[in-house]
Parts: sequence; C-alpha cells; structure tokens
Amino acid sequence: MCGIIGYAGKKDAVAMIVDGLKKLEYRGYDSAGVAVVGGGGFGVVKQKGRLAALEARLKSFPLAGRVGIGHTRWATHGEPSDVNSHPHVGSGNRVAVVHNGIIENYRRLKSYLEQKGVRFASQTDSEVVAQLCEYYYSGDIIDTVIRVANRLEGSYALGVMCLDEPDTLVAVKKDNPLIVGLSEHGNFIASDVPAILRYTNRVCYLGDKELAVIRQDGVRFFSFDREPLQKPPETVAWSPDSAEKTGYPHFMLKEIMEQPRVLRDTIRSARTGANQSVIDNLDVSRYHKIVITACGSAYNAGVVAKYVFEALCRLPVETELASEFRYKDPILDKKTLVLLISQSGETADTIAALREAKAKGAQTLAIVNVVGSTIAKEARYCLFTAAGPEIAVATTKAFSAQLVLLYLLAVRFASRRKTLTEEEERALLASVAALPEKAAELLEATGTIQKYASACVGYKSIFFIGRNIDYAIALEGSLKLKEISYIHSEAYAGGELKHGTISLIEEDTLVVVLASCERLYGKIMSNAQQVISRGAKVLLIGNSRNGANGDEKLTQILLPACHELFSPSLSAVVLQLFAYYVAANKGLDIDKPRNLAKSVTVE
Ligand code: AGP
Repeated sequence: MCGIIGYAGKKDAVAMIVDGLKKLEYRGYDSAGVAVVGGGGFGVVKQKGRLAALEARLKSFPLAGRVGIGHTRWATHGEPSDVNSHPHVGSGNRVAVVHNGIIENYRRLKSYLEQKGVRFASQTDSEVVAQLCEYYYSGDIIDTVIRVANRLEGSYALGVMCLDEPDTLVAVKKDNPLIVGLSEHGNFIASDVPAILRYTNRVCYLGDKELAVIRQDGVRFFSFDREPLQKPPETVAWSPDSAEKTGYPHFMLKEIMEQPRVLRDTIRSARTGANQSVIDNLDVSRYHKIVITACGSAYNAGVVAKYVFEALCRLPVETELASEFRYKDPILDKKTLVLLISQSGETADTIAALREAKAKGAQTLAIVNVVGSTIAKEARYCLFTAAGPEIAVATTKAFSAQLVLLYLLAVRFASRRKTLTEEEERALLASVAALPEKAAELLEATGTIQKYASACVGYKSIFFIGRNIDYAIALEGSLKLKEISYIHSEAYAGGELKHGTISLIEEDTLVVVLASCERLYGKIMSNAQQVISRGAKVLLIGNSRNGANGDEKLTQILLPACHELFSPSLSAVVLQLFAYYVAANKGLDIDKPRNLAKSVTVE
C-alpha cells in the first residue's frame, strides 16, 4: 500500500512527480504530498483526500525544484489527514522522507527520540524515519540512511532527501517494492514501473537492504556494508500508452476491453521463451499434491484452477487463502508443488505463504504479472502473465491472463501424467486458443449487459450461484461487484442455497446464475427456478440456448459455446462488465474503490 516516487535531474520535478502519483494512486488514495529541495529549504505541499485535492492545493501554493519526492497514502498508523500525509520532514527541517510499509518498532524509536527532546508532528510510524535520519545525520546521508535502516523493524521502501546534500536522493527498501528509472535528463525512484513509464523504460530493481543514490548525472547502488553493487538496467517492454486511459472513462473498462489481446499474448507466451521453458521443465511426476495459495481474485483464479487440474490431471489440489496459509502449519513436503498466484507479485500474505512453502521444502511455482516483483524473484519457478500494467484496483485482464496460463499448465501436466490422450490434448489446446476470439465477440456486444446493469443500481444485495466450476467463477463475480459497486453480495454453490441462504430470497432479489456446466445444467436451472418461485429475478449467464424459457423473471446473457473447463474465461468477461456498469451507473469512483488499494503490501 502507498505509492512513492522521486526524481533528481535537470527538469522541474513537481509535474513529473504529480503525474507519477496519478499512476500510483491505485496503491492508496486517502492523502498525498510532494516535497522539493529549493530556496534553501524544503517546499512541501500535503493534502488529505484524492490526488485532485493535492493538485488544487499546488495551484495555490506552487512548488518548483529539480530534486523531489512524492507519496500517495493508504493510512495504517494515524488517520488520513494533512499532517499524517507524507512527505514527513524532521523537526530540524533537514531531512524529508516518503515511506511505503510499516515500521513495527516505531513506538520504541519514537519514545527514544522523544526522550532526547525530538518533537513529533504526526501520529504516523513513518515520521520516525525522518526524525531518526536527522538525529543520526553525520554529514553523509548514505551512512545515515544505512544506520537508520539498520534500526528499523518491519517493511519499508523509502525515499530520503537531505538539505545538506541537495542534489541527492537516497532510496532503500525491505519487503516493499522500489525501482529506479534511468533517463537522459535525470533519474527516478518509484513503487512501480507505470509511474515512470512516460519518461523511461530503463529500470533497475532494488533488492532488499540495497541502497540507491540518485543524482541528475547517474545512480550508484550500495549494500548496507557500503560495497558498490552493479545493477545493469533492464528494458521494460510495456508501452507508455499501457499506463494511460487512452480515451476510456476508466482504466477498468480499458482493461476489460484489452482482454482479447491479453489472452492471445499470454497463450503465445506459454509456447515461447521463459514461460515455455518453465512449463516444459517442471518434472510433474515428482508431485503428489498441488497447493494453490493467493488472495482475493488471484485466489478465485486458483479455485477455478483446482477444478481444471483435478479434472485433467487427476491430482489432488488444495486451495488456501494466503492470509491463512502460514498460520495453519500447512502439510507440505518436497513432493508438494505450491502454486502462488499474484498480479502484483507484492501481496504481503502471498509472499509470506511463498516463504513458508520454501521453508517447508515444497517446490514453488508463481504466476505473476509484474516482472522484478518479490514473488517473481523468490519463487523457484515463475510464469509471467502478459497482461501489461493493470491500473484499476479491481483486477480484470490480469485475472483472465492467470486463468489461461493455469489452463495451459494443467493441460501440460495432464499430458505428462498421461491422463489425456494426444487427441484430447490437441482438442483442449484448440479450445484455449479460441478463447480470445470468443472474448472479443462478447466485448463487441456489451449493450444488453449495460442496459441490464443500469437497472440494478438500487439493489442492496445480489447473490451469485453456480455449480462446480461455475461456482468458482461465481466467487469472482461476487467479489468484483462488491468491491466497485458497494452492493452487498455473496456467492454460493447452487446446491447450498436450500441449506440456509434461500431464506434471504424475497420478492425481486437478484440472483445471478452461472450455467456453463452442461452436465449440471438441469440442476442449476432447478436452483434458478427455486429462487424464481420465491420472487427472485434471475440473470442467467451461460451457453445453453434453452435457457431463455420465456419466464419474465429471467434474463439470459448467452455465452459463446466453449469447453466447460474453460468457460470461466467467458463468464468472467460478462461478470466484469456487469460489475463495471452497475458501478458506473451509480457514479462511483470505479478505478479507486473506497478503502481498497491494489497492492496489499501489509498483513
Ligand atoms: C481484485 O479485484 C482485488 N483488487 C484483490 O482481490 C486482488 O486480487 C488481491 O489483493 C491479490 O492481489 P495480487 O494479485 O496483486 O496478489
């Protein structure tokens, strides 16, 4: 959570910092701030609220400087307020700091400093870093930052400026992401690539307990022993446009619409380069169990995958929420493959699950979207989704990319385990290859779903039901709706309704019924009839042409025909559009839903 950016160069830093913060706002958006070195002191403007509020304040109190730092906050310690916003400046006005993470021992450090007479302005854990830097400042900001970092417990990505060394920006990290961007006119730090993509695609990924010293004329890297480190820059393949809305009203809609391309690229990636070599080299005969662990939508992708792997590979698959994983003393051994799924590669609980799995001797394979992220670096094997940068907090294209990689992995495993004939394998691969076209077909005709969704803004609660793999994708439909529309929603296995939940069904309750499992079509339609008889309305999402039975309480969105196991990819597109248009009709801030942050880097 929280986004940080910094610049040291020939150009004015403020416009680039604010532009970068716009790309980072998905990481937190309850306050924001900028600080620059200039005029013999720091110029600092901080503002509670969205970035637009900071921009308005900067119009009244303009800043200018060639070295600066910025921050967008998701509050952990101290309410969202102007004073708790970053950057934090020490009480001597010599050091300014932006921080992403949590300083777990901040109380102890704060009372130590208070005993020495230091006065704190905010309730944040982060201010302690600025105060400690001033307290320890020795005439060398690099030594000072190392000394301070050695006293910190918890997680941090830090950008530090010191008035006595006004051309220098120092960055350091532990357990939170930080990249360095290199350009002709100056150099950057940022929480992630999209923040600086407009200015450069040459980046270095900072490792834990590594320090970067950024100046206009270059960047140097050091270990905490002050040994110089060599970090050749990598070129990011993402285009600058991929981090812009390009005419769409929201990133979420743009990202939904990008899915045919994303599916195509991700399918292609499994046949070439690094992904292919991972898929080909995994010795599947070694594993007697797969455990899939992830959070949120990535977890839901894992639930879909459980059905696919078990059906195709005849191998037991467990799914575990990453936030629970390490606390349940999971039963793992070297014959277990732990599969971690994460768009950002920085989700704290998924990282912890990965470390737990490695400590217990299990093999680890991650599916990640962000190259250079912690999970990508720490997992034994990693497959990359080709989704490009995903900016909207609600994941869409990255989720879809995860699904297709999981399908392809399952087919490959099954083929190696000889649970499929060659002919079956070919047919399955052809079904996966057809998904981009089918998704495009759905995206060309969004009118019905848009119209239906516009009539759903008044619901207090919407239920999603499905059976088997339709249940798995119902989980994602429900999550998508609740996170951006603020409508309460639950997903249930169709057969579970009558064990309690059906008591919630009353006149005009909306139940979204997922029905792409041909074998279970009759059964899920019985569940649909049971709720219709109790007054509910049904939105049926499925591929049977027999669905629309003339019942005025039932509306069907017809999906293109598809292999049952891969149908979640098509249902997902409709569910994403449904959630999007409900939220759009409510006039909500779709890309930045309240209380959420895209990258959940705290526990
Ligand atoms: C989904 O729309 C959410 N933003 C959230 O559930 C997300 O999938 C979860 O936080 C996991 O994030 P990750 O994929 O970056 O690990």
